[in-house]
Amino acid sequence: MAGSDLEPLSLWLLQSTGLRADRLGSSRLARAVKQRLIPSGCTSIRHYAQRLPHDRPEQQKLIEHLVVGESWFLREPRSFEQLHQLTVRLRQRPLRVLSCGCSSGEEPYSVVIALLEAGIPLAQLQVEAIDISAVALAKAAEGLYGAHALRGLEPGLLERHFQREPGRSTRHWRLRPQIRAAVRFHQGTLQQQLVQLPGPWHVVFCRNVMLYLEDQARLDLLMAIAARLEPQGMLLVAAAEAPMVPLDRFCSLPGGHGSAFAPIRPIAVEPADAAPRPVDRPVLPTPACAILEPADHLVEARRLSQGGQAEEALAAARRCLYLDPGCHEALELAVDLAVALGRLQEAERQIRRLERLRQRRQR
Ligand SMILES: C[S@@+](CC[C@H](N)C(=O)[O-])C[C@H]1O[C@@H](n2cnc3c(N)ncnc32)[C@H](O)[C@@H]1O
Repeated sequence: MAGSDLEPLSLWLLQSTGLRADRLGSSRLARAVKQRLIPSGCTSIRHYAQRLPHDRPEQQKLIEHLVVGESWFLREPRSFEQLHQLTVRLRQRPLRVLSCGCSSGEEPYSVVIALLEAGIPLAQLQVEAIDISAVALAKAAEGLYGAHALRGLEPGLLERHFQREPGRSTRHWRLRPQIRAAVRFHQGTLQQQLVQLPGPWHVVFCRNVMLYLEDQARLDLLMAIAARLEPQGMLLVAAAEAPMVPLDRFCSLPGGHGSAFAPIRPIAVEPADAAPRPVDRPVLPTPACAILEPADHLVEARRLSQGGQAEEALAAARRCLYLDPGCHEALELAVDLAVALGRLQEAERQIRRLERLRQRRQR
């Protein structure tokens, strides 16, 4: 199968799902098309590529062959520790959690299990989940899992939240119905579904999906998530995906091992002739970070800056300024870092704030 034959199909995939064929694994698209050619009644790849854009059922069948649905319960346990910590700090209920690319339900059901274990009743939870694969979502609704998906669960959790499946091997367990009923699943692309679901969310899990997306689709997705997170909310990504998160829209949360992020609201650009605001606070509502004192964030900012992590250092300096808008040292550091990162608009804004601060001190 010539690579050029597949190009129109790669393009269709990218445009309709954001997925990049080469990131799904070498020759996955070629294998999937090969498997669909005869059942679809097409005589050649060219014929298949011509038909696909007009044949919705066939599009879904091809997607089912393409997506990577690998998942298991309590995968990357640190995410669930972060979720737990946030729920302790956040008093808002119901707690609204979204799982993006939920596969056969392991991730959103793990959310429910983790929160139940933390003592939060089901009535105070609203968990929703999106996936493009109808086959994966049918498995999620069934709630029957084998040893592979259950390998992250200790026996106590298994006994409390699952039932042995009579007639199946002892390695198969079915989730208890009340947990299955606690998650609402939505089939479609993240791009379509995110804008349709009401939000805003306290926590968004978006793990092991961005790996497969094209760069711009990734960025668009993260922007859409940022816009739909509560100001005190949190984005959780897989460790391997952390470098993909843009640090001008998210700040890395302390203690989050680099995979937990708080949203940063876009900074309002002041018109040149705007009168100085009476209270000059940056628009950075990241109270999830606010468990630390401003000085802790300043220390962190200096440490990161010395370690050459300018983006992260700037985010820490902003957190300090959010909590203590009059912190002279944090402002100076933020100016240096913004200049080093080429964020000249931000640097100028911080310089104006420094000036105002100095004038106030002289009075
Ligand atoms: C590797 S699984 C990750 C499951 C889970 N998030 C985890 O970390 O264990 C990726 C899932 O993302 C889904 N997916 C990929 N691209 C998608 C898209 N554009 N819209 C919705 N779901 C998508 C796939 O169907 C698959 O079930």
